[in-house]
Amino acid sequence: MRYLITSALPYINGINHLGNLVGSMLPADVYARFLRQEGEKVLFICGTDEHGTPAELAALEEGLDVADYCQRQYERQAEVYQRFGLSFDYFGRTSSQENHELTQNFYQCLDENGFIKEEEISQMYSLEDERFLPDRYVIGTCPNCGYQSARGDQCENCTSVLNPTDLIQPRSAISGSTNLEVRQSKHLFLELNLLSSKVESWVEEHPDWSSLTRSIAKKWLNEGLQKRCITRDLNWGIPVPRTGFEGKVFYVWFDAPIGYLAMTKAWSDRAEERNWLNWWQQSEDVRYVQFMAKDNLPFHTIMFPAMILGTGKPWKLADQIKGFNWLNYYGGKFSTSSKRGVFLDQALDILPSDCWRYTLLAISPESSDSSFTWEQLQTKINKDLADKLGNLINRILKFAASRFDSRIPMGGVPGEAEQRLEAQCKELMDTICQCLHSLEFRKATNALCALWTIGNQYIDEQAPWKLFKENPEQAAMVIRTSINLIRIYALASYPFIPSTARQIFDALGLSESERTSSFNSAVDFSILKPDRPFDVPAPLFQKLDDEQVARFKSHFGGE
Ligand code: 2FM
Ligand code: ZN
Repeated sequence: MRYLITSALPYINGINHLGNLVGSMLPADVYARFLRQEGEKVLFICGTDEHGTPAELAALEEGLDVADYCQRQYERQAEVYQRFGLSFDYFGRTSSQENHELTQNFYQCLDENGFIKEEEISQMYSLEDERFLPDRYVIGTCPNCGYQSARGDQCENCTSVLNPTDLIQPRSAISGSTNLEVRQSKHLFLELNLLSSKVESWVEEHPDWSSLTRSIAKKWLNEGLQKRCITRDLNWGIPVPRTGFEGKVFYVWFDAPIGYLAMTKAWSDRAEERNWLNWWQQSEDVRYVQFMAKDNLPFHTIMFPAMILGTGKPWKLADQIKGFNWLNYYGGKFSTSSKRGVFLDQALDILPSDCWRYTLLAISPESSDSSFTWEQLQTKINKDLADKLGNLINRILKFAASRFDSRIPMGGVPGEAEQRLEAQCKELMDTICQCLHSLEFRKATNALCALWTIGNQYIDEQAPWKLFKENPEQAAMVIRTSINLIRIYALASYPFIPSTARQIFDALGLSESERTSSFNSAVDFSILKPDRPFDVPAPLFQKLDDEQVARFKSHFGGE
């Protein structure tokens, strides 16, 4: 089996916040790292989603050309994700040449197969700006709740989905002009209605999807699929190769998911031995797993599969679609526009990536929405990472370094306590492994913490520092066991907190091949043999004190 993993492509405008990370890229990364460690062949693809009105408007606000704006933002995002330890095999862009070609090809296949319909529709036109104003280019009063800055595609206040022509007292987002009129414009529609039964049979083939994923797919199917407009009167985007459609582009949600294929192609084009079609076509042995937040589920369970099925080409469809609920910030949403919550670049300025990764995974909004709080972050860092993991490693290695000359000691015979420790480790490693296979990240993270707990219990019971005076041979055996336990901890922790795991691997002086092991065979207390040297790492985690927590809270609006 080979694994193709994609996480929802983040929008190019702005730097994402913690909520975006927890609901797609981070769990996808844990899954990818875990499978690689299991020795599986993995291809992990992500990239920026660059088209649509949000990108154009953000560029306009900064006085930049939209292509330049996207280039800059792409670099910023790629850097932040790298700092978070996200191990994409390729991080691409939907504005790439590959995506232009593939999107136009998808459209042509869909058209040839009779799933594209041309229709004239009413669009807002700004006389002052001399252009059409699709989606967010129109601002006005929401007809549902009266919010005065509702956007043409959606009201941020009441979340209702809108058309620009629905807004009361509409004005242009570019010039503020109210000199607008409704004009007719030709557009293309994807006839989802004609693809409904194909999509439904495909959804039915997957009873193993989570209830969140299935319920959203079912809801759309039960309401009956409607044709959907897939073009816009914009310049920035992928041109529509059809007479009479000059100056129009595809709607961002049409080309974005095709980006998954295009980015794989771009990855493939960068090395001789890679073959992207091997992942997206001739791919019976590929398991394709997608990660995303719940608002993306309709596009991945209905729209994108409908597009694929409509082409009649043997493109790979997802085998598993993992959806996440919302991560809230003090009872409300993380909000880019009102600056509530923590953005990814700020997060890394104040704490190391592993502190964020671990905490976010432990509170992952899997079965329902969950909330981030600074107190929780403090507990996770201080009690789990610093006390249970970091402190244990430091105590053991420091003691071993001073009493046994920085080498793994020999002597002593393992007894009942060691047998018990081994059995407990095996059970917990098995739990983590199963949870990760079934994409239950919160449970997996809890099991990891439980694994750290049993080591602390073992050490407290055996108290090697005391034992050393009475029975140095037995103390040596306890220390040898503990150092082997630290090796198991590093292997188990690697998918979750990779940079800490690397520090531990380094301290133990593990070779490249010793740094990977399947979870099943990792529990072995005789791998690191007597006389092997090791280093004592610097303390792995620093605790967060109450004063810092109070400062972060007031700075990031968490009151
Ligand atoms: O919600 C978002 O951030 C979208 N940009 C996700 C796109 S996923 C994919 F289909 F490209
Ligand atoms: Zn509203």
